[in-house]
Amino acid sequence: MYSLKVPVWFPSFLVFVPGKGDGSQVFWDGYTRSPQKGAVVKRWIARGVGILVAVLLLIQLIPYGHSHTDPPVVAEPAWDSPQTRELAVRACFDCHSNETKTYWFSSIAPFSWLIQHDIDEGRRRLNFSDWTGNGREVGEAAETVREGSMPPIQYKLIHPESHLTDAERTALEQGLQATLQGG
Ligand code: HEC
Repeated sequence: MYSLKVPVWFPSFLVFVPGKGDGSQVFWDGYTRSPQKGAVVKRWIARGVGILVAVLLLIQLIPYGHSHTDPPVVAEPAWDSPQTRELAVRACFDCHSNETKTYWFSSIAPFSWLIQHDIDEGRRRLNFSDWTGNGREVGEAAETVREGSMPPIQYKLIHPESHLTDAERTALEQGLQATLQGG
């Protein structure tokens, strides 16, 4: 009789796996086994993991977030001091410049999707590399630093190097203010 040999973790509803209707299943070695105590639960956990892995592999095929080519740097603001720029590079440039760093997880979905979205939105609001462009919310830059709303919390958790001490935060806030007033 027709029998399909599948590994135990394989989600059986994807293929027809003959059994006796009592939860028994044909295993990879060709033998039919009835489930023992706890085996059904284990099997469903194994299938869950199998499906999760399959989904994680499949979503890697979606091209969104794969390209890491930055647009050219057009013009930076007239920084009031090299220190202000340094702090902004550390805490803001990954999303608000055309000099975004690429990390080992930058191409791995779903991280790549979140990163791409942050970069697109970030550059649209405020781009330190395209200071001639319109539509920038520069007036709020110092304010976001003072409030602590930028960089976003999820970014700070993953990038400890972007964490600013109180003194650095004050320096960046005042530096941005001076830079933006200067034009
Ligand atoms: C992880 C990416 C990321 C980093 C790093 C980051 N931002 Fe943003 N920023 C965004 C995104 C996304 C938006 C638009 C959506 C929003 O407001 O949350 C934004 C919006 C803004 C805006 C527009 C006003 C507002 O609140 O929406 C300002 C100003 C800003 N950011 C300043 C900064 C400054 C200054 C830094 C560095 C101290 C920084 N950002 C770091 C992603 C980032």
